[in-house]
Amino acid sequence: MSLRPTLETRLAQPTMEGAGVHLHRAFGFHNPSELDPFLLFDDFRNEDPAKFEAGFPWHPHRGIETITYVLSGSVDHGDSLGNTGTLGAGDVQWMTAGSGILHQEMPHGNAQGQMHGFQLWANLPSSLKMTAPRYQDVKSPDIPEITDDDGTTVRVIVGEFWGKRGPVDGIAADPQYLDISVPPGVKKTFRIDTYRRAFAYVFEGAGAFADASQPAGVLLEKEVAGEEVNIRDLSGDRTLIRFGTGDEVTVQAGEQGIRFLLVSGAPIQEPVAWHGPIVMNTTAELQQAMADLRNGTFIKPAH
Ligand code: CO
Repeated sequence: MSLRPTLETRLAQPTMEGAGVHLHRAFGFHNPSELDPFLLFDDFRNEDPAKFEAGFPWHPHRGIETITYVLSGSVDHGDSLGNTGTLGAGDVQWMTAGSGILHQEMPHGNAQGQMHGFQLWANLPSSLKMTAPRYQDVKSPDIPEITDDDGTTVRVIVGEFWGKRGPVDGIAADPQYLDISVPPGVKKTFRIDTYRRAFAYVFEGAGAFADASQPAGVLLEKEVAGEEVNIRDLSGDRTLIRFGTGDEVTVQAGEQGIRFLLVSGAPIQEPVAWHGPIVMNTTAELQQAMADLRNGTFIKPAH
């Protein structure tokens, strides 16, 4: 077993998207190879409906998958294939945009006006960029939730973990997407296959991820898996942690416990040509997408 070093920790940054939605972006647009196969991660947490209700009116996607996970409030969606629906608290939508889709995503607050959810973008390899669009909508009760002896709870959204398999299937980047809650004071280690690139996103409580590589941080522990490690305190308020190579990560939950997403996938390692919601391999393919949008040929007719 080897501990994955924490390459970087950083706070998600406030930004505005869609028709004026205030959100926090943990990564995206800056360096697409950094967390390959993942391109972007947005955190929609807001308690003021005026800052999110304008939503994301009709827009295109091509060449990627968008994964929406709702924690509070809801998201109404509709698309160019005629699909409509509502994602509620705990639900997940895994959308394979493939060759192209036009859709809208309209968030609504809960009874207290609160909205919370995440959107992750996963890249598609060149062989699947023009695959047929597909939706997988998963209701909260269909997501396996496992509770360990120490009270650690894991919702398995995608991939296999502790013997359970998440309900989303057939995804190119072989992703694993876990929602993990570790109780106060508990130290827990999670295996992640070495070939995966991995990040954690802390959004409740606080804790410390063991770090075998960097001297910075608060030294809380000296012995994890026989190695001398540093462990640093992390605020639970929207913190991204990028992990390096290894096959496990260790977290020490603070006094409030800690809740975080642990996401990993196989890198695609192809050139990235990116324009807004369209991500292809070459500039020529981007130009083709723009021409298709102008000419009304972006959406392939169903057959
Ligand atoms: Co979209």
